[in-house]
Amino acid sequence: MKLTFPDHFWWGAATSGPQSEGRFNKQHVNVFDHWYDIAPEDFYNYVGPDTASDFYHSFREDIKLMKEVGLNTVRTSIQWSRLIDDFETASLNPDGVRFYNDVINEFIANDITPVINLHHFDLPVELYDRYGGWESKHVTDLYAKYAEQCFRLFGDRVKNWFTFNEPMVIVDGEYLYQFHYPKIVDGKKAVQVAYNLSLASAKAMAKYRGLDHNNAGKIGIILNLTPAYAASDDPADQAAAEMADLWTNKLFLDPAINGHFPEKLVTTLKQDGVLWQATPAELQLISEQTIDQLGVNYYHPFRVQRPEISPDSLMDWMPSKYFNNYEMPGRVMNVDKGWEIYPKALYDIALTVRDDYHNIPWFVSENGMGVSREERFMDANGVINDDYRIKFMHDHLTWLHKGIEAGSNCFGYHVWTPIDCWSWANAYRNRYGLISTNIHTQVKTIKRSGRWFADASKNNGFDA
Ligand code: NOJ
Repeated sequence: MKLTFPDHFWWGAATSGPQSEGRFNKQHVNVFDHWYDIAPEDFYNYVGPDTASDFYHSFREDIKLMKEVGLNTVRTSIQWSRLIDDFETASLNPDGVRFYNDVINEFIANDITPVINLHHFDLPVELYDRYGGWESKHVTDLYAKYAEQCFRLFGDRVKNWFTFNEPMVIVDGEYLYQFHYPKIVDGKKAVQVAYNLSLASAKAMAKYRGLDHNNAGKIGIILNLTPAYAASDDPADQAAAEMADLWTNKLFLDPAINGHFPEKLVTTLKQDGVLWQATPAELQLISEQTIDQLGVNYYHPFRVQRPEISPDSLMDWMPSKYFNNYEMPGRVMNVDKGWEIYPKALYDIALTVRDDYHNIPWFVSENGMGVSREERFMDANGVINDDYRIKFMHDHLTWLHKGIEAGSNCFGYHVWTPIDCWSWANAYRNRYGLISTNIHTQVKTIKRSGRWFADASKNNGFDA
């Protein structure tokens, strides 16, 4: 049986500026560039973002390969630290303007719709040093100015904008669990940063909607959703899963779509003495500026059980006082035993968006499988035969299709990522691409999964 997807379905892939471009000709340094400069040992094999996959130089050839694997839409991001010269006034770096114009034009010349995200974890480090980064509301204003520049410069050609990618990772990685610079552990700051990111998103959307010539476009946010499944029917596990869902998913979903934060979470944060500082005018703006469309990054589910430690034993506030990870026996893990593989979650997400979020238009903005040492699967022609990735996409798309059949308003599926790229502290350990990158020669070769994807895109579906 053939599974056919809706007309004009986005068969695409996602990357980001800081992970693909390399640092060439950048005016400023972002937090990852800086982290690598001060602690290269924190990065897998000491590989930093300096070259990444060299998109800065090879974008024309890369885009041809993207076309060859059937992508009709591609998401990348603009680097604030490349486009802007002075952050206070949002004056421009001419080379950054030229580069992003060239990239956008090249996508369009190849019949690929560019989808542009404005922030992919890549805060200019000066704004952290000067103001505390996203802890500061002034930075939310500077971000809105930068966003406005992007809309003015590229809005005539770019009709699909996103304000942030995975803002929750900024909160978790930078302020709670120490996997991103500056590796702070501070629950109260984490909560304020979460709020400030929603506020910044609303400010950018207000700028977008204030510009006449952009009326034909759409703006939204990209969130990593990890459906929370309780370990058992026991009320303590159920309550833990509810809190995990509130913190991990609804904290950003609710303001983005409904215009207000989830009441139960707000009450809990208030009782715990960590609620954010907000003004009535800001809350009003958040309620007015809701998204046109949603991007959902989905990789793995969250299995949840009641917390192990008693809430009072924690010195500082941590969301994990309410829930704990559960290693479910028998779960299916990827070939590297890294993340659980659970494609049905895409169906669950589809129904959640349909039933709890007004069936807003949405797309899978990232889904993919990270595998280390992929050269093990390379044949004599240098092609990686990644059948595991084909199965991964096939199974996820099959569940997504069921969700669409059930009425969910999903308009696309983007693989992470078109071409193997640099992945933060993991650098080049796990590869996700439909196209491989040899990081020594920068030679790029289409994987077997890339051919599969090209067929699926051409046929707007595949055999189940
Ligand atoms: C999510 C992020 O958006 C992206 O930057 C990252 O590399 C992928 N997941 C893979 O982990």
